[in-house]
Amino acid sequence: MSSTLNNPAHPRNVQLTADGRLKHFLSINGLSKTLLTEILDTAESFANMGEQAVKKVPLLRGKTIVNLFFENSTRTRATFELAAKRLSADVLNLDINTSSTAKGETLMDTLQNIEAMYADMFVVRHADSGAAHFIASQITPKVAIINAGDGRHAHPTQAMLDMFTIRRHKGAFEGLKVAIVGDILHSRVARSQIRALNILGAAEVRLVAPKTLLPVGIEEMGAKIYTRMEEGIKDVDVVIMLRLQKERMSGALLPSESEFYRLYGLTTQKLAYAHPEAIVMHPGPINRGVEIESAVADGPRSVILQQVGYGIATRMAVMSMAMSGQMHERSQIQ
Ligand code: CP
Repeated sequence: MSSTLNNPAHPRNVQLTADGRLKHFLSINGLSKTLLTEILDTAESFANMGEQAVKKVPLLRGKTIVNLFFENSTRTRATFELAAKRLSADVLNLDINTSSTAKGETLMDTLQNIEAMYADMFVVRHADSGAAHFIASQITPKVAIINAGDGRHAHPTQAMLDMFTIRRHKGAFEGLKVAIVGDILHSRVARSQIRALNILGAAEVRLVAPKTLLPVGIEEMGAKIYTRMEEGIKDVDVVIMLRLQKERMSGALLPSESEFYRLYGLTTQKLAYAHPEAIVMHPGPINRGVEIESAVADGPRSVILQQVGYGIATRMAVMSMAMSGQMHERSQIQ
């Protein structure tokens, strides 16, 4: 039995089975340190697979995984597809732009049609916050739903690959100071990272941004607010830079990109305020000269490309655990 039992004092987390196993992966909310550590440990077991002659294990052989990306993606989509293939699943990448959603079919009708093709898992990216939860509540419980990013709400597999990166480079979370810098307001990645870092026991989570890019009350998630970059990254062990998400900005939140870069862009000069062994992370896509200097992005303390590679192992872990939870739940019902 899994050691990640629900707390009976709290309502059932919809992404967990009755005995606390993962069956969907919708957000970091309500997940235990034990479960997050289990994801990281499982990812570790897959981490060197890319170097092997045969990059496959049969864990999801015979299962069908459908990638449903209603919003643009490079890293997440590619690494989910590679992860599914390395688990030996059959993978269908639905091209939303050429699908019948472009002819006016509703999201639910599209999903029910794919469900009728006996899919076992949907990997969903959507511009609307709550889309993955909504789908999980509407679709048959036999299909595992994995959130690949929904609006500003959550990007839980990104957060877990970031935690994997931090653990690989820094060891334990205890005692670590982590600064998340930039467009916090529009960032689903930051919200998921704050939760994961707090659950895993990071000593300090700092948010560094101009006031216009900080959501009201965000500190209640367990983070300290800084509006001056030099103070915010002082002595931190990890600097996570975020992209300015202009596609989600409705008003003038910044005087100009060059002013933002001057105050919050990570340059070699500003990085000197962090701990001398601090690592630099970014979920991508990066905007050189907007939030990060090329010399830092390509420099010796950057682990940005390693993050992308770790995404495959982390997504393999999440998909195999969710499918295992689904199979376990079905065996309990029969
Ligand atoms: N980090 C991330 O979600 O990148 P993509 O938008 O390219 O998937």
